[in-house]
Amino acid sequence: MKKKIALITGGYSGEAVISYKSAITIENNVDKDKWDCYKIDINPNGWFYMGTEKAIVDKNDFSITLDGKKIVFDAVLVGLHGTPGEDGKLQGYFDCLNIPYTSCNAATSALTFNKRYTVAVAAFAGIDVAKSIHLFKKITVTPAAILKEIQLPVFVKPNNGGSSIGMSKVNKAEDLQVALDKAFKEDEQVLVEEFIKGREFTIGVFKSKGEVIALPITEVISKKEFFDFEAKYEGASEEITPAKIPSEITNRIQDAAKKAYTVFNCNGVVRIDFILNEANEKPYMLEINTVPGQSEASIVPQQVKAMGWSLKEFYSALIEECFI
Ligand SMILES: Nc1ncnc2c1ncn2[C@@H]1O[C@H](COP(=O)(O)OP(=O)(O)O)[C@@H](O)[C@H]1O
Ligand SMILES: [Mg+2]
Repeated sequence: MKKKIALITGGYSGEAVISYKSAITIENNVDKDKWDCYKIDINPNGWFYMGTEKAIVDKNDFSITLDGKKIVFDAVLVGLHGTPGEDGKLQGYFDCLNIPYTSCNAATSALTFNKRYTVAVAAFAGIDVAKSIHLFKKITVTPAAILKEIQLPVFVKPNNGGSSIGMSKVNKAEDLQVALDKAFKEDEQVLVEEFIKGREFTIGVFKSKGEVIALPITEVISKKEFFDFEAKYEGASEEITPAKIPSEITNRIQDAAKKAYTVFNCNGVVRIDFILNEANEKPYMLEINTVPGQSEASIVPQQVKAMGWSLKEFYSALIEECFI
């Protein structure tokens, strides 16, 4: 009998719109000869099966009942960006129910959802990262105090955000407070990070049959000042896969990405952002996305195709990892 796979999508954050797009690509490319795939929408109004027949998910055991028949799942395919599918919450729930899933585990998901904790652990492992300061809403720190520690220009980011929402690049000291206020509107924690000058790359990494595999690298060329929401989702950027870079640089970025995947004990496919610091030609890691975008136009599907794999083979490889 075919194994039953729940493809989860939606979520409780602004990234839900992206989740629905990712889930369409994933659902279209799950090998139906191998797996029975059920799309489950997890949204603030409830958890629902999205088939021709609608059903409410029983949270006691993550089951659904269709035509009077109870269906329990053998594994969960995670296509949900932001909370609760990318920050470890659902991973902890599935752990309690003993249902395997395609993403990183609860601890890694929670850790990497926090940008500052991510760069802190990466730095400890010898991966290059930008110098940064971690701020908390309840403890006021003045722009002057921040600029004593790190140098302009800086990036101000909500620490747990995604999709560049609430983020600013600050070139002048007098603009720092406005940027802090904007970021604190999105999050209780904010990261202020030194700007790394150089070309930007992003790279998918996944595991298949126990081997950590780096996908071809994508160069991101933003038409905006940085890879912001518009650049990401409204076409104001160019993405070149595979990136046109010397093989030595390719190796350097792929090695750093595989090292990060291993150090963070990742599972499934993740996408890691880097800036190649033009001062020393070393890749500086910005963040790890543990549930990267998977719409047809997204970077990971482009990289999978550039590697010469079909998306069908790719999603089968991710699902099969749940059962080894
Ligand atoms: N320290 C930095 N130096 C240079 N560019 C940065 C830095 N931090 C962020 N950026 C730019 O901002 C974009 C978004 O930042 P990132 O940390 O990847 O957050 P997210 O993608 O979750 O919004 C990056 O893709 C990059 O273009
Ligand atoms: Mg990013």
